[in-house]
Amino acid sequence: MKVLILPDAQAATRRAADIVSRTVSATPDSVLGLATGGTMLPLYDALAQRHRDEGLSFAKVTSFNLDEYIGLTPDHPCSYHHYMQEAFFRHVDIDPARTHLPKGDAADPQAASDDYEALIEKAGGIDLQLLGIGQNGHIGFNEPTASLGSRTRIKTLTESTRRANQKYFDSFDETPRYAITTGVATILASHKCLLIATGTAKARAVVDMIEGPVSAACPASALQLHARVTVILDEAAAGELHLKEYYETVHPGGRDSAFD
Ligand code: PGA
Repeated sequence: MKVLILPDAQAATRRAADIVSRTVSATPDSVLGLATGGTMLPLYDALAQRHRDEGLSFAKVTSFNLDEYIGLTPDHPCSYHHYMQEAFFRHVDIDPARTHLPKGDAADPQAASDDYEALIEKAGGIDLQLLGIGQNGHIGFNEPTASLGSRTRIKTLTESTRRANQKYFDSFDETPRYAITTGVATILASHKCLLIATGTAKARAVVDMIEGPVSAACPASALQLHARVTVILDEAAAGELHLKEYYETVHPGGRDSAFD
């Protein structure tokens, strides 16, 4: 794993935006795997700004989001369809026909999951997968003990994930219990992964992901098996890493290498 440690969340966001911009500029018809959550909001802001100020174009990009709650329609204000529309899609020139999220309101969510997996394959797979990490080590909604060989399917959310997401809903009871999520193996099949974690609340999960054993107890640890993963951290999220100094030696100031 390439572990880049930046001084603060703003610098981490800028670094991540550089990587996404470079990917899209070099390959305008890239297939991006997109993520939701609070960590991604400043990244989408930064990309929208580059679209406005520098002409960064997403017109030929295809996108697949990681997950969606079951039971919410796309226009529900807490759905990830709505989040993506508000946070990113409506601010850039992406073609709505090329954007994809799992259909959380499908009559048959498992059939919808199978269709989603097939669509990703038909698009040629994901070039760059953006990822956040849950405090419990989840990626997408692959909660602890999720199969590391899993593909897109229905997952039951843990209480801790529902509590973390409760702030977006009127009450804990209204916070969805189920989601469709791409699987750990779906994520591992991406050509490259870019995971961003900021804040002390993520520090424990970050250690388990980078330095812990590969274990379904921390689904993000499966990324150790992937050859092209970049992890971007701020100081707070990196605070518990045992080999922090080593990562800072290899990637001073969060640069790609000491030789840049
Ligand atoms: P967050 O979510 O960015 O809102 O912390 C990340 C995740 O749960 O994957």
